[in-house]
Amino acid sequence: MRRYRRRYVWELPVRFFHWSHVASGAVLVVTGYYIGNPFITAGAPGPFVPSNLYIMNWMRFAHFAAAVVLTIAVLVRLYWFLRGNEFSRATGWVPFTSARGMKQWLWQLKEQLRFYLLLRRDAPHGLAHNPMAVLSYIAVMVLLLVQIVTGWALFGEITPGSIWWHLFSWAFSILSSQYLRYVHHITMWLLIVFFIVHLYLAVRDDVLGDSGTMTSIFSGWKYQHEEHTDEGS
Ligand code: HEM
Ligand code: HEM
Repeated sequence: MRRYRRRYVWELPVRFFHWSHVASGAVLVVTGYYIGNPFITAGAPGPFVPSNLYIMNWMRFAHFAAAVVLTIAVLVRLYWFLRGNEFSRATGWVPFTSARGMKQWLWQLKEQLRFYLLLRRDAPHGLAHNPMAVLSYIAVMVLLLVQIVTGWALFGEITPGSIWWHLFSWAFSILSSQYLRYVHHITMWLLIVFFIVHLYLAVRDDVLGDSGTMTSIFSGWKYQHEEHTDEGS
């Protein structure tokens, strides 16, 4: 019989970041898509159409409210890269401060790729995010930051003189307003593509692996069987 060790891996700020950016992201995608392509039109006010539907106003209000949640969640996660435990701090994603750690991380990257290519039967990684996943999470962080910068810059444009204009208007010296909106729009589709692949791999890892990946992002705990304690970080 296999013996397992239970380890607390994802602390509350990591789970707060994950689930609040998933929830706010869902609102942002639906309302953002509507802002870019207003597919519901109320028509002229009449007996069946009240004059105060304000669909676009409500969509924009929900978009900006969710944007605040997303921005706070990302700031919390960035702070936690400095303060988190050995798994969630920046060096838990990529152990760039240790040559030995990097060597092991690169080995895990290669072995994880072999596992995905069906050249290896069992997943090699231990408790931290597997290095292939880390590469995709770095990309997602960059995409979320792009959304935050372009979003607040666009918001500053419609609220001239506001703090958002002062903080983010430099973005207009890189790209014109229409291009910023275009980047904001395209980035949404990149995040949607990431989400589909991420969900598939998270479910796959949970079914084929035995570390309890899926439960870990809810509870924070993972399982490691004792023969493998030397492989993970
Ligand atoms: C129902 C939807 C989702 C599920 C079930 C899910 C599941 C998971 C799981 C199980 C992990 C931990 C993986 C591990 O232990 O190595 C994780 C981490 C992560 N997921 Fe998701 N995910 C979902 C949606 C999303 C979305 C929509 C995004 C971004 C657009 C996202 C971005 C991330 C990131 C960045 C991490 C790393 C967490 C950290 O270290 O801060 N996830 N997810
Ligand atoms: C996952 C994150 C986000 C997604 C998927 C998203 C998506 C979108 C999309 C698709 C549009 C329409 C662009 C177009 O085609 O014209 C849009 C507009 C906009 N978004 Fe976002 N957005 C996100 C985050 C943010 C954030 C953090 C802010 C910050 C305030 C923001 C503010 C805006 C503004 C100001 C507009 C233009 C509204 C208008 O012209 O009426 N967005 N968003």
